[in-house]
Amino acid sequence: MVTFRVVTIFPAIIRAYVGESILKRAIAADLIDVTVHDLRDYATDKHKTVDDYPYGGGAGMVMKPDPFFRVIEEQWPDRQSRRVVLLSPKGRTFTQDRALSFSRETRQTILLCGRYEAIDERVREALVDDEVSIGDYVLTGGELPALVIIDAVARLVPGVLGDSRSSAEDSFSCGLLDYPHYTRPEIFRGMTVPPVLLSGHHSEIERWRRIQSLRHTLERRPELLERLEMSQEDRKILKELKEEST
Ligand code: ADE
Repeated sequence: MVTFRVVTIFPAIIRAYVGESILKRAIAADLIDVTVHDLRDYATDKHKTVDDYPYGGGAGMVMKPDPFFRVIEEQWPDRQSRRVVLLSPKGRTFTQDRALSFSRETRQTILLCGRYEAIDERVREALVDDEVSIGDYVLTGGELPALVIIDAVARLVPGVLGDSRSSAEDSFSCGLLDYPHYTRPEIFRGMTVPPVLLSGHHSEIERWRRIQSLRHTLERRPELLERLEMSQEDRKILKELKEEST
């Protein structure tokens, strides 16, 4: 089972999100397991302090090392069976590929959520196996990134989504952006559904979808095409799409 252990000073944020919808069901069905650990419970002074002023001066506070060491050493003393992941804008960027590798992880995934300006570097040095960013922007803490990872990983665990094809066909899963989708009614406020989708002709529908995926990727994320394994047919379609746009 994929197991997430979240260390945070805001446990309610994590519990609120994993307590709803698909994640709630996945947890109830024992497909994933999420536990939340309040970092303040591992502070030793009577005020439960988890941050302090930075050595060398400067703006903002730094998260103290001691509570992180205590929670990890008490809860998950065996290094072999844990993978400690620090959420931070300095980490390697999270992608669909990385979500897939998290979904196959057999160790417990421990997500450390930072707050304030920074975390004492010795936490990184001695405890952290992997540092992950969810994108090139700075948030107020690691809780949303932790939830982003749990959410993206959970939906790849077999059984979590109703239909396993729905994650296989996602944007990025095959290296391309998703194609457009339509549902009833056939005409909505004068806007129609592409006739091929109503034709019942499966190979034509597949081809139309492939063209749309290639078109959207070319227009919005052309760099994704450089890494794509393309068929002859894909190359032909792309050539036509490029000619169309010039
Ligand atoms: N903490 C603050 N910003 C972050 C980001 N972009 N990714 C991961 N953790 C963060």
